[in-house]
Amino acid sequence: MINSKPMLVIGTFSFVAICAVLFGFAQTQSGVSPVADTAPKKAEEQFKNIQVLKGIPADQMIPGMQFISTSLGVECEFCHVQGALEKDDKKPKQTARKMIEMMFTINQENFDGHREVTCYSCHRGSTDPVGTPPVMAEDLKPSVGEAKKSEGIRAETNEASGPTGDQLLDKYLKAVGGAAALDKVTSRVMKGTITFGDRDVPIDIFSKDPDKRVSLTHTPDGESVTAFDGHDGWLGVPGRPVREMHGPDIDGAAMDADLHFAAHLKGMFSEVQVRGTEKIGDHDAYFLVGRRGEKTPLRLYFDAQSGLLLRLIRYGETPFGRMPTQIDYADYREVGGVKIPYRWTLARPGGRFTIQLTEVKQNVPVDDAKFAKPPAPPAEADKGSAK
Ligand code: HEC
Ligand code: HEC
Repeated sequence: MINSKPMLVIGTFSFVAICAVLFGFAQTQSGVSPVADTAPKKAEEQFKNIQVLKGIPADQMIPGMQFISTSLGVECEFCHVQGALEKDDKKPKQTARKMIEMMFTINQENFDGHREVTCYSCHRGSTDPVGTPPVMAEDLKPSVGEAKKSEGIRAETNEASGPTGDQLLDKYLKAVGGAAALDKVTSRVMKGTITFGDRDVPIDIFSKDPDKRVSLTHTPDGESVTAFDGHDGWLGVPGRPVREMHGPDIDGAAMDADLHFAAHLKGMFSEVQVRGTEKIGDHDAYFLVGRRGEKTPLRLYFDAQSGLLLRLIRYGETPFGRMPTQIDYADYREVGGVKIPYRWTLARPGGRFTIQLTEVKQNVPVDDAKFAKPPAPPAEADKGSAK
């Protein structure tokens, strides 16, 4: 019992901390700052022992490894010797190489090279994929079949007569107050609580045009920072050097920082497809997929009644498959003519947290110094000085 508190602290903040540790580790190991060069580095140029992943961008390596770990439900040490990731001493690492080649071949030969089959397709969070269908674990409930049937019918009628993607995006913009009202918002200062597991800690979030945002989580160990200055993003946890965000993290941070997101949404998509309806909590929602050219698509779920955004799913790209980030928005309230969610839950395969706001102020002055990047640690400062 006495021990459970400190354990929890580690557990609850680990998802931010572990990322910082891993990224930090991978970078110092190679001694190269991934932002220093203009041409994207290849995995084999940055890492020591790359045999099957030659040619993939180096900065997709760690997200890719996280995808593999999540797919198998293991930690890095299942395959790697701690502190010497290039070593091939562990059998599962060698098996994984064969599996990677198998996965690429399956997709090449059967799906025109589209990445349809991933590690997760077979593994489903286990090292030992299940090949036999499970037996029925409970007695059949007569209502199950009927419920499914009526749901199916409803989904079909809705799809046939439902709104178009453009209509849903327009309705969302109107529901939050309309473009003119959104235009008047130039800053937002939020106070609230962030909950990881059963721990609550205070959080302050500052947003300012154009696309600046910083959130300060006041953990028992010190202040954790997630920031985006309109161009660069970074993460800081107490006692560790600041870590730069890359690719999809930046993409996501830019969306979170956009005070006019509802107005910009339509322009982000090259194609929008309404896929049907789904229940989110007690709400019926229309669910659409927005394609964004080269970037990963977004999935959006709009409340069928109010038109408000209930869920957004975005993806990080890895060579093995996409890593989802899901944000559920709730408790919409009106502040200065616009509706904003006072609560949201951000969930990833490796962790989740909920933020509940208690206080929101808009159009108050926010000092630009709040969004200034802290100085880089010495090793990186040398490389970055040319920038
Ligand atoms: C299921 C096995 C498996 C797991 C789990 C795994 N890896 Fe790997 N990892 C590999 C394989 C296989 C390679 C070599 C790929 C190649 O040869 O192209 C590799 C290579 C690497 C490399 C390059 C090392 C070098 O210098 O050559 C790094 C860094 C790495 N992994 C980090 C991680 C991290 C961090 C985690 C945990 C998030 C992790 N890996 C989890 C299988 C795994
Ligand atoms: C087509 C299905 C399929 C796909 C896709 C697949 N695996 Fe596997 N994998 C299996 C099966 C089945 C086994 C178990 C084989 C056995 O028991 O001998 C296995 C076993 C493994 C093992 C050995 C586990 C242990 O206990 O030692 C590793 C490591 C592994 N897979 C990694 C991966 C990685 C990494 C990917 C994605 C790049 C992947 N697998 C994709 C089917 C698959």
